[in-house]
Amino acid sequence: MVEEKTVRRGTGATSTRSRGLRVGDGSAGAVGLGEAMRDESVRIPTGMGEIDRVLGGGLVEGSVVMLGGEPGAGKSTLVTQLSGQLSKHGTVLYVSGEESASQIAARAKRLGVPDGAPVRLLASSDMADVEAAVRKTDPKIIIADSVQTLRIDELESAAGSVTQLREVTARLVNMAKQERRAVLLIGHVTKDGTIAGPKVLEHLVDVVLSFDGDRSGGPRIIRALKNRFGGTGELAVLEMSRDGLREVPDPSALFLAERPKDVAGSVVLASCDGARPLLLEVQALVTPSAMPSPRRVATGIDGTRLSILAAVLTQRAGLPLREHDVFVAMAGGASVEEPAADLGIACALASSVVELSLPEDLVVFGEVGLAGEIRAVPRATVRLEEAIKFGFKRALVPKSNVERGEIPDGIRAHGVGHIREVIAWIERRAEQR
Ligand code: TYD
Ligand code: MG
Repeated sequence: MVEEKTVRRGTGATSTRSRGLRVGDGSAGAVGLGEAMRDESVRIPTGMGEIDRVLGGGLVEGSVVMLGGEPGAGKSTLVTQLSGQLSKHGTVLYVSGEESASQIAARAKRLGVPDGAPVRLLASSDMADVEAAVRKTDPKIIIADSVQTLRIDELESAAGSVTQLREVTARLVNMAKQERRAVLLIGHVTKDGTIAGPKVLEHLVDVVLSFDGDRSGGPRIIRALKNRFGGTGELAVLEMSRDGLREVPDPSALFLAERPKDVAGSVVLASCDGARPLLLEVQALVTPSAMPSPRRVATGIDGTRLSILAAVLTQRAGLPLREHDVFVAMAGGASVEEPAADLGIACALASSVVELSLPEDLVVFGEVGLAGEIRAVPRATVRLEEAIKFGFKRALVPKSNVERGEIPDGIRAHGVGHIREVIAWIERRAEQR
């Protein structure tokens, strides 16, 4: 049960509830499609090419972008860096309910934001203060860090409650739409998702960006989960350094940098995150188990998927995993969700079982079905082109992708139809050693 309190009309209420269709307003406010088409949206470049690409070309005036991520991911760092660049296009109002103005200023200084930049700081969690500051400074861009800390006094619930979150966001959306300001909203997400967070706000905002990565270091990945002004296939890879977040133009290079040479159980996957190809290393370790039910431990891939894959390999290809513990990890803190990673993981497991490394210039992709069949994956050509760029000479791919003529020049691709063939090939290599 969640207590919901509506604010009385006339107090600037913009509750999502009070905005229903009113009888009688007919088509008074309607505009022609052609007229609306001519009214093109203006984009404000953020100064970071990677972020612009994810946004579809910069922040759109009059829009609300929500940036969600775990604490420590680097959200405040990113928006501080962006505020310096964005302020070239108009005043930026940086509202923080978490830090004092001097804390933000210290960070901004360290991140190289020039001290003459038109950035106004407001350390307050009261929406009334925000509204007053907006009236006074007339900013072009509003940054709210974070939405969970802002609250409206008239609502009695605590900051961060569903009621507060919705109302605060609705008011910020209104500020964006009415005055054509761009609003950048930060939302904390927790791993278990127990705290009412960005999820309940996704439908209210125009763009939802997820900021993956944690304080342990490693690459930070920004994806668009929803974008009313562009695609959702793009992703940006950033790296946290001493002086803030840095763009990583060649993420495959970053993920492959520390790849061990000549090690059993290490395989390079040609994965695709959205539209972007990404070469990732997967490592597997198979060891005899002392447990009655052996362990299947996955890092960076779905645990259930690993269990299924292990079962398929045992049942359909005779790989002896029944009495073995199986550990699989994506190197460099990466993670993959797509089924196209299956074949690479299977190869890594087989390579670990026979204790023989696979060729260094080999990339792998393909989905493995429950019957052991290898299924075609989307964007095979893009994956292979990325592999060619990084000097890979051979590829193990689904037969149907080869039959569709999706193999570019410059790489020798071997098409396979069943997992049995792949395991047999690896076992043959091991016997010839
Ligand atoms: P922060 O941006 O405050 O994370 P969030 O707002 O998402 O909670 O900072 C994330 C971490 O990054 C913080 O622990 C310190 C580190 N950091 C750097 O390594 N370099 C820097 O230049 C900055 C500003 C932070
Ligand atoms: Mg922060």
